[in-house]
Amino acid sequence: MRRDVRPDPAFRFHQRDLSEYRDADLNPYLKLHLAYGPPVLTADQAHAARGRWAETFGRAAPLHVEVGSGNGFFLAGMAGLHPDWNWLGLEIRFKRVVQTAGRIRAAGAAHARIARYDAFWMGDLFDDGEVSGLYVNHPDPWPKPRETRNRLLARPFAETAARLLASGAHLRVKTDSVAYVDGILAVLDGLPFEVVGRSDDIASEGPPWPPDDDVVSSYQRKFLDRQAPVHALWIRRL
Ligand SMILES: C[S@@+](CC[C@H](N)C(=O)[O-])C[C@H]1O[C@@H](n2cnc3c(N)ncnc32)[C@H](O)[C@@H]1O
Repeated sequence: MRRDVRPDPAFRFHQRDLSEYRDADLNPYLKLHLAYGPPVLTADQAHAARGRWAETFGRAAPLHVEVGSGNGFFLAGMAGLHPDWNWLGLEIRFKRVVQTAGRIRAAGAAHARIARYDAFWMGDLFDDGEVSGLYVNHPDPWPKPRETRNRLLARPFAETAARLLASGAHLRVKTDSVAYVDGILAVLDGLPFEVVGRSDDIASEGPPWPPDDDVVSSYQRKFLDRQAPVHALWIRRL
């Protein structure tokens, strides 16, 4: 089965009547994310925003999307660097959605949202060419050969990215896994992308993009502190 069309029970979980569940059985962050309001978007709200993101943000602006936002440090930081763009994070874990929402609020970033969404289904959220920038920081590496099929940045993701990114838009990836870098380059083959730059050690070489146009993510910080190399790819949609 293709990972991008797998059934995802968690995606629909909140649509069910919560009274069906004993309170003690519910993830408290699931309930928190439902009650949070902006900047949190539930999966249904994100889904309904397809083609209407300007309405969701209350303004028309280039849409930049981070996949797997974790605790939101990168998303809130980048929203601060680019107040003229709309920023959307996609995160699957309820607790991290709530953490990211807290960071967005603390940063006063009214032009940022965090959606609880499984990024394997990212294609459902955007019309063709609706996205101006896509960012993936330290995606789960799944390093063992039998786990490779779990990687998010596989061929279906690359095909979806080619569809939703506008011509001239970029995809920026940072990862601690060099095998993942090579895997991404392989899945881009034959798609309308060009590699603008690559770094195999951001600490010594700098990132391939302008260094002042970046925020060190929380996972990146862990690897930098251990003096482990962080790899980066800067890719442009042709
Ligand atoms: C290793 S952490 C990196 C977090 C953050 N990007 C950073 O660099 O600090 C990977 C993140 O991706 C999220 N994630 C994993 N699979 C996902 C999916 N299918 N859709 C959305 N988020 C996902 C995880 O919950 C986690 O927060």
